[in-house]
Amino acid sequence: MAVQYFTATSLDGFIADPNHSLEWLLQFGTEDPSYPEFIRDVGVIAMGSSTYEWLWRHHLAPDAPAPMPWFYAQPCWVFSSRTLPVVEGADVRFVRGDVRPVFDAMQETLRERHAAGQTAPNIWIVGGGDLAGQVHDAGLLDEMIVTITSVTLGQGAPLFPRRVATPALALKAVRQVGPEFVQLTYQVPKS
Ligand SMILES: NC(=O)c1ccc[n+]([C@@H]2O[C@H](COP(=O)([O-])OP(=O)(O)OC[C@H]3O[C@@H](n4cnc5c(N)ncnc54)[C@H](OP(=O)(O)O)[C@@H]3O)[C@@H](O)[C@H]2O)c1
Repeated sequence: MAVQYFTATSLDGFIADPNHSLEWLLQFGTEDPSYPEFIRDVGVIAMGSSTYEWLWRHHLAPDAPAPMPWFYAQPCWVFSSRTLPVVEGADVRFVRGDVRPVFDAMQETLRERHAAGQTAPNIWIVGGGDLAGQVHDAGLLDEMIVTITSVTLGQGAPLFPRRVATPALALKAVRQVGPEFVQLTYQVPKS
């Protein structure tokens, strides 16, 4: 089992622009070419409220410009201190506060899914960067898989607003993904 922060970023380290727009990313197509291989091994998902609200506004709300059904087959935990709209039929669990008890619940769900024959082992932190940082603060983050796009944004939602310097992240893989992207896989040191 690995807890993975898998995301796309601008070259200067932002995962969304200051208005929470992803147009800069979507210009390259709707899906990172490495995503199908990645998601095969994901058993449960966690995200923050801005990420969930982006999905809601763009795809899920009754007046969404690009309507789509909820597309994750895995149970999804959404962190928020607010009451957010619920997607009909989606396995979304709203939580708040310390990430550790939530991760205990996610791991328990992974075990139940495994017993039922659904063996995808990993936990995906979809974003944003601070939620991935909270997971790191709790000593729970294992890997960062970062797809770097060929744009700079100047400002926006940060990739990972934490200092990880000594020991540094351990580079595990570098690969080109499609014509435009470079993907870096790092193992996160445990202190
Ligand atoms: N480039 C990519 O591949 C990629 C991937 C993922 C996301 N994104 C985008 O990046 C942006 C990320 O936005 P963001 O930086 O604001 O991050 P976010 O994690 O999506 O949302 C942050 C919000 O989640 C809630 N939250 C976080 N931790 C919490 C906790 N422990 N307990 C309770 N609530 C908690 C808080 O809001 P409330 O309490 O007010 O609800 C917080 O302000 C979004 O626009 C998203 O669409 C891009």
